[in-house]
Amino acid sequence: MKSSRESLTLPVEFLNLSDPAERLAVALDVPDAHSALALADRLEGSCRWLKVGMELYYAAGNSLIETLRGRGFRIFLDLKLHDIPNTVAGAVRSVSGTGAELLTVHAAGGPAMLRAVVEAAQAPGAPLLLAVTVLTSMDTGELAAIGIFTPPAEQVLRLARMAQGEGVSGMVCSAEEVASLRDQTGAETILVVPGIRPAGSTSDDQRRVATAAEAISRGASILVVGRPITRASDPAQAALTILKEIEEAAG
Ligand code: C5P
Repeated sequence: MKSSRESLTLPVEFLNLSDPAERLAVALDVPDAHSALALADRLEGSCRWLKVGMELYYAAGNSLIETLRGRGFRIFLDLKLHDIPNTVAGAVRSVSGTGAELLTVHAAGGPAMLRAVVEAAQAPGAPLLLAVTVLTSMDTGELAAIGIFTPPAEQVLRLARMAQGEGVSGMVCSAEEVASLRDQTGAETILVVPGIRPAGSTSDDQRRVATAAEAISRGASILVVGRPITRASDPAQAALTILKEIEEAAG
């Protein structure tokens, strides 16, 4: 019998790494479908992936995913699932068939939970799974408060190793860990990096930021960018500027 890891091997055609537009996901961190569609209108032609997180998904649900898909966008559903195996497997089934192509789960849910989501994601129309390792908002003190005394960078590698062993297709990590995760996980793993800021711009609430060029040259597959694009006076132009930076770094 094939292991779940083999059966979830990434199809080469899933991401065309030589096309910069395949490597940028714009975070639609807005509270409702109306604002999301208005932003999507402004982004049309400048980006291919939209990331829908909890804020928007809880407000607008699967129908918005289907509408955005209908407009030609690829959807990255960032729900960061973390519950008992039976419940997370059900959540994967609930979003399958919407056209969402990537879905996040917390690696900290453990091997049994990951096995359950990987199995649920074998169904036709299910998204590929990305494991969130250590949240970028957590530092050594935060980890110690929940009984984890391993340094964050080491904990990231440990969780990634476990998640990859259970058959997920990739991980979400910061630009600080992406080079070591790329070494550990190999060329085919999807490594998604948020916390991207153009050189010299504000970092907002992000702590571990990097430019698009830095993250790509360290081995990121897809960059997640929110406010530097969505709060720009011309979001499409801001996205195009980042695409140019990706193209140059991928060179
Ligand atoms: O606006 P900004 O570019 O900071 O948005 C980053 C996006 O990436 C947000 O949607 C946030 O939820 C997401 N994200 C993150 N750090 C993680 C995982 C996801 O910032 N570790």
